[in-house]
Amino acid sequence: MKKTIIVLSIVFLVFVAFNCLAADDDEGGGLIVFEKPVAGVVFDHAKHSDLDCSDCHDDLFEQDAGSTAENKDFTMKAMEEGETCGACHDGDTAFSVKKNCVKCHIGKMNTSKLEQ
Ligand code: HEC
Ligand code: HEC
Ligand code: HEC
Repeated sequence: MKKTIIVLSIVFLVFVAFNCLAADDDEGGGLIVFEKPVAGVVFDHAKHSDLDCSDCHDDLFEQDAGSTAENKDFTMKAMEEGETCGACHDGDTAFSVKKNCVKCHIGKMNTSKLEQ
């Protein structure tokens, strides 16, 4: 019982510390992890901090995590046609969505399909 409480306290403290750290280098909306339609896709505001907020908000994305997955056709085909992430990730402004799968897909997928 005592052990459970200690373990839970540690988990809680790590969680709090993590959230504080995440808030510290919060460049706009912080780290976004998309779970739909596939799990484990990352978008890090900090890695896009050279850009202006208005490059993405609110034409490409609402300032509301999860809204693109709800409202738009959030697919690779749409991105290849210049929608959402594909507005920049076209191999010109930034690395292409036609390759580099694992730069964005860090989560579980059928990785055999992701090798370049
Ligand atoms: C390169 C594109 C891009 C830039 C630049 C950008 N954002 Fe975002 N932002 C996103 C995306 C993508 C999401 C998630 C939208 C979604 O899930 O539909 C998001 C979400 C957000 C959210 C919501 C976070 C949440 O947890 O709900 C806020 C707030 C936000 N951005 C603020 C900013 C601010 C402030 C700036 C400028 C300092 C900025 N963003 C710059 C792409 C960008
Ligand atoms: C610039 C970042 C980025 C790159 C590079 C990228 N993806 Fe995606 N991918 C996304 C985002 C964002 C979504 C939609 C959000 C989600 O599904 O969590 C997505 C969704 C998907 C989906 C589900 C929707 C659909 O189109 O059927 C598949 C499958 C997929 N990606 C495969 C790939 C493969 C294979 C590659 C490499 C050829 C790749 N992706 C490269 C960001 C990327
Ligand atoms: C307004 C332009 C723009 C949009 C929209 C955009 N990106 Fe980027 N992204 C960039 C630029 C510029 C870089 C840095 C240059 C490069 O790596 O090619 C970058 C870098 C990245 C990186 C590499 C970070 C690293 O580790 O260095 C990832 C991952 C990424 N973007 C994912 C996404 C995803 C996912 C989306 C859509 C939700 C998205 N980006 C939308 C411009 C954009």
